[in-house]
Amino acid sequence: MPVLESLSAERRTVDLQELLKRLAFDMICRVSLGTEVCSLEPSLPDSPLARAYDVSCAICARRGAAPVSAIWRIKRWLGVGSERELKQAVDEVHSSIARLIRDRAERIVETGDRSAGSQSDLLSRLASAGYGEELIRDMVISFIMAGRDTTSAAMTWLFWMLSRSQEVERELIGEVDGAAGELDYDSLKELKFLSGCLCEVMRLYPPVAWDSKHAVGDDVLPDGTPVRAGDRVTYFPYGMGRMESIWGRDRLEFKPGRWFEGPEGKPRGELKKVCPYKFPVFQAGPRDCIGKEMAFLQMKYVVASVLRRFEIRPVERDDDGVFVPLLTAHMAGGLPVQIRKRERPPASQ
Ligand code: HEM
Repeated sequence: MPVLESLSAERRTVDLQELLKRLAFDMICRVSLGTEVCSLEPSLPDSPLARAYDVSCAICARRGAAPVSAIWRIKRWLGVGSERELKQAVDEVHSSIARLIRDRAERIVETGDRSAGSQSDLLSRLASAGYGEELIRDMVISFIMAGRDTTSAAMTWLFWMLSRSQEVERELIGEVDGAAGELDYDSLKELKFLSGCLCEVMRLYPPVAWDSKHAVGDDVLPDGTPVRAGDRVTYFPYGMGRMESIWGRDRLEFKPGRWFEGPEGKPRGELKKVCPYKFPVFQAGPRDCIGKEMAFLQMKYVVASVLRRFEIRPVERDDDGVFVPLLTAHMAGGLPVQIRKRERPPASQ
């Protein structure tokens, strides 16, 4: 964690949301593309690919929220305004990824080795399997989009909520300090209170706040509501996470204890298995998130590693953390924080 070391030594204020976004981008690019984009240094400008992603996502979200679609459709037809910007950003994403796909395919041909390249990344695997460029491009784009802003948003809100809930923070630090040795797959699985904290924060601040589907054919919802072909149906995890009928009267409180079996006090019981139709943060049904396990591992690794060694203190702000539900949600204005080394670092790391 050299970046956090130097930020704490310099006592600089940094936007934690931006830092986590860059970290998630680095991680998902390594997994999907097999490339190191090294965007973590906060003083560096955004990578052109990351910037083009941000622009495309923001404009698509505005399309989705527009009460009348005719306006953006006309702008698209005329090639002006936000639609022109969107086209440029999408072209940038397509051409950057296409370049990487061609490079990887060439390397595979040059070496004659179908497992060439970075081997375990998605792009190399799809290229080695002989899929076409467009299909690979679209799959890789979906992965980067799905895995980038989602995990960073959840972790941003978690650090924010911990700074406002000292009792929860103390319990969580106790758990991560108690995990022996390196944080590996098995020790991360054991950090159950951290899982509860992540579920609780995503209940209140779901990274995908709303999600729409368009009906292919006429249908009827389980409550009898008719849906006609072409209708748009939206489910709303943000609203559901705050409904009294689902979560009870304390629905607006940040209480990770509600994710555990038995009474809410300690010792904690096992984590509850909550039905995804009640908690559709990763969607529910046959097309739910395939990155859920990876997302939990990644978030747990990052949060536990940070908490073991650093204190994160948000700087004073006037608002209560404003939730902005674009394609993925984020905190308005970022999360400016000061980072300090923990006074008594645990012996384990
Ligand atoms: C906190 C983190 C995450 C949340 C809240 C989340 C949430 C979601 C949601 C709501 C969907 C359904 C979208 C739709 O169909 O409209 C989805 C799909 C998907 N997610 Fe995630 N996701 C997260 C992390 C990840 C990560 C890290 C990856 C990849 C490594 C990933 C990969 C995917 C993919 C590929 C799909 C499409 C699945 C399909 O269409 O069958 N997600 N995710």
